[in-house]
Amino acid sequence: MGNTIPPLFPLRPPISERYLVRNSVSATETELDMEPQYLRTVLAQWATGVVVVTTLDDQGSRHGMTASSFTSVALHPPLVSVCVASTGATCRMIRRSGIFAVNVLGSDHEEIGRRFAGSAVDDRFARGHWETATTGAAVLADAVAWLDCAVAACYPAGDHTIVLGMVQDAATPRPAAPLIYHDRTYYEGIAR
Ligand SMILES: Cc1cc2nc3c(=O)[nH]c(=O)nc-3n(C[C@H](O)[C@H](O)[C@H](O)COP(=O)(O)O)c2cc1C
Repeated sequence: MGNTIPPLFPLRPPISERYLVRNSVSATETELDMEPQYLRTVLAQWATGVVVVTTLDDQGSRHGMTASSFTSVALHPPLVSVCVASTGATCRMIRRSGIFAVNVLGSDHEEIGRRFAGSAVDDRFARGHWETATTGAAVLADAVAWLDCAVAACYPAGDHTIVLGMVQDAATPRPAAPLIYHDRTYYEGIAR
């Protein structure tokens, strides 16, 4: 038996699905072979900051979740985006309330990052000092930065929704090192 090179990702069962791909000139069907867990492993190599996205439910109670998909989009007008699972509670509440805030976590906020990603706690807001911004969304008093937004648009994207927010107010309460997420591990960001 000759030498064989082991595959880099042995857990990669091929799945083939047909997707309709549209662009400005045509709509074509394309065969894609991309296993979600494999893609997740590849994407985990992209280092990000960590934010908590907050919003309000129908009763006006605060809700929030941890996210790494935050992006600055434009300065004129002031637009940012987050990408949230379309079936999740946060997505539903953002769509219904029309508002959300983005809280940029500091390197000492790892516990808050974990709380807002998990389902094991009754009240995700039980840790941290939370205040209320102009839209009604909760903002962390010692966040590295926060942005208070009105929903400008929601774009369905596969099983997620790209939420575009018009920034109503923003602040940098604390000049601290940010929390970083890479390969499913939290790291302390650069010190000043
Ligand atoms: C570091 C980190 C980043 C995450 N980023 C996102 C994200 O960008 N979008 C998303 O939909 N879920 C993201 N999640 C998962 C959500 O935080 C998690 O599913 C949460 O429980 C959703 O809350 P909800 O069901 O109340 O909406 C992330 C989790 C972690 C730990």
